[in-house]
This record gives sequence, structure tokens and C-alpha cells, in this order.
Amino acid sequence: MKKYNIAIVGATGLVGREFLSSLAQWDIVNNLYLVASARSKGQKVQFKDKTIELITVEDALEEKIDVAFFCAGSSISKNYGPLFAKNNTIVIDNSSYFRMDKDIPLIVPEVNGHELHRFQGKIIANPNCSTIQLAVILKHIEDLYGLKRVVVSTYQSVSGAGQKGVDELNNQILAYGKGTTYEPKVLPVAADKVFYQMFNNILPQIDLFEDDGYTKEEHKMINETRKILNIPKLPITVTTVRVPVFRCHSESVNVETYQDINIEEFKEYLKNQQSVIVMDDIKNQLYPTPLHVAGKNEVFVGRIRRDNSVEHGLNMWIVADNVRKGAAYNGLQILLYLIENNLI
Ligand SMILES: NC(=O)c1ccc[n+]([C@@H]2O[C@H](COP(=O)([O-])OP(=O)(O)OC[C@H]3O[C@@H](n4cnc5c(N)ncnc54)[C@H](OP(=O)(O)O)[C@@H]3O)[C@@H](O)[C@H]2O)c1
Repeated sequence: MKKYNIAIVGATGLVGREFLSSLAQWDIVNNLYLVASARSKGQKVQFKDKTIELITVEDALEEKIDVAFFCAGSSISKNYGPLFAKNNTIVIDNSSYFRMDKDIPLIVPEVNGHELHRFQGKIIANPNCSTIQLAVILKHIEDLYGLKRVVVSTYQSVSGAGQKGVDELNNQILAYGKGTTYEPKVLPVAADKVFYQMFNNILPQIDLFEDDGYTKEEHKMINETRKILNIPKLPITVTTVRVPVFRCHSESVNVETYQDINIEEFKEYLKNQQSVIVMDDIKNQLYPTPLHVAGKNEVFVGRIRRDNSVEHGLNMWIVADNVRKGAAYNGLQILLYLIENNLI
């Protein structure tokens, strides 16, 4: 396989570190540039047998880079993504900044990777974490039975809020063990004024509220799912919820279809699909849980059953690692798709 000069912008963050460990499993790196904020410049990070010094985005712009994974937040993507693209670097962006731009593909390779064949630009968007796992399964339902309506409730882990979210829950658990409390400063929304304890709690808010009563996270899931599946008017409604779990997002998904569903056939079909693992054996109480799925690349699905309240419908439980398939692994899959299809 050809090798590339690759940059990870946000290399010290949760997603950036996962990119590092995922990349280590592929022999595609020529030079690796690890980018973080000016605060981290000069610190050293290990990649395979190499020790790499962290640099800033400005430093990275001086280098000849083939592909840059951006995972340092929307403002860095907004300000620097286009500059890297201008330097002929392919930017695979994990932030939400470019996702709904009509000229920028929003890609889950096994769902709509084909869109990359007719794409001439340089910036490719990686979807929202909870959207990716949903789209992987909905695509098959659309292909088989036609999607009529989708209702989703999420149970999202604190790692979705970055390292700060993880630290906050951890500190609250440690404080509880010592019989004290740890003041929340990050969740539900770091940029807001009101905070709630996450430990021993459930927060029905992810990201800021919009005027219609939905949160930005809910809008992302609705809009991005429609874009990825290329069904602009898909009736879909979402409630996103933060739960005191470190890793993996879980989703209770109800789907109404146009055609009748044979549940057993559907399960068999899913078992043969790329990046899907069916874990559904209620006799043995087998279904996916965040603890089981953490650290895995696939989308796990269980509790698949008929919804008897509508003519054609089903319920299911979908779990995936939000930092892997929901971020770094999907980003890496985009690059692998480009390589395998000679698009880079
Ligand atoms: N966590 C998830 O499940 C998830 C899933 C999908 C997408 N995303 C998206 O991925 C991005 C990163 O998320 P995360 O969870 O990894 O966040 P995180 O843990 O908070 O990491 C943020 C990273 O950005 C770097 N950074 C901050 N300011 C910078 C600057 N001025 N220049 C260069 N780098 C800078 C930080 O470097 P320092 O260490 O130097 O501060 C750190 O490496 C966000 O856009 C997020 O929305 C996250």
C-alpha cells in the first residue's frame, strides 16, 4: 500500500488519540504530524517506534501533508480546514462545521462512500457520532423495506463531550467514594451557564437548545441522517440524552416502513453486512451493552422485534463506540475508501 504524509489536528484529545491508535494498525503512514494547541507544543507523543513532537496548526501549514484528520473542534476546522485544502491536503473533518454544507460530502463509507467518486473537492465531513451508528442500520432498512418514519432516543456517554466530560464524571465518582461532591462545570453543555451533576443522573440535554425546543445534537442527528441516506424529507424525530457511562452511545430506535418486515430474515441479512454485528438472543439474555462494545469498531444491534402498534414497524437497540466508529474509525475508513478506490 502507498504511504502518505498524515496530520492529526487535535492529536492529544479523545478522538485524536483514537486516530493515533487506529492508524498504528495500518501501514499507510510516511510522515506523521501531530498537532495540538500552542499549550502542548513541544510535548512528545509515541507512535509505533517513533517519538513525535507536537506542533501547532501554523507549523503544520508549512509541511507537505497529503491527509489531515481534523479533531480539534469547529473553530479550528472553520479557520484552518480551508487553508489545508488550499495546500492540496485532503481534510477529513470530525467537527460539525462543514457537515451540512451542500458542496461537502458527509460520509459513512459503507452507506454512501460512492459519493466520493464524483467529488472533486478536498474537505470531507465525518458525521456526528450518534448519527453514524444510526445511518449504518437505517440504510439496510431503507434498501429492504423503505423507511416511512424513524423515532430515536439516545443514551450517550460522557466521552461524547470530550476529555473534559470524561474527567467530570470520573471526578464525581471519586468524590462520591470519599463522601464529598465535585462541582459540575462541563455537562450538559460546557459553553452554557447551568450545569448538572452527571454521576447518578441522566440529562435530557446534549448541546444547546434551539428555538423549536430541540437541542443542536437532535438537529444534527435529524439533518445529517437525511443527508447521508439522501432522503431529504425523511420523517425522523430524536431525543438525545446523556447518561453516566464513559464510552459508547446506545440508541432505542423505532422504525415504520412501507413494506412488511420479516424479522428473522432481516436479522440474517444484517449478519452479512459490513461493520454490523447482530447480538440478539433473548433466550440467553444477549444484547449489546456499552461495556461490551467499548473499544470495538463495529455497530452492534439487538432487541430487534416487531412494533405491533403500526402496520409495518420494528424496534431495535443500537450500540457503537462513539470515539471509534462514531469518530476516528469512520474517519480512517474514509481514507481507506479513498485509497482502495484510487481516489487519492
Ligand atoms: N468525543 C466524541 O465522541 C466525538 C465524536 C465525533 C466527533 N467529535 C468531534 O471531534 C472533535 C474533538 O473532540 P474530542 O472529544 O477529541 O475533544 P477533546 O478531547 O476536548 O480534544 C480537543 C483537541 O483539540 C486540541 N486543540 C484545542 N485547541 C487547539 C488549537 N488552537 N489548535 C490545535 N489543536 C487544538 C486539543 O489540544 P490540547 O491538548 O493542546 O488542548 C485536543 O487535542 C470535536 O469537534 C468533536 O465535536 C467528537
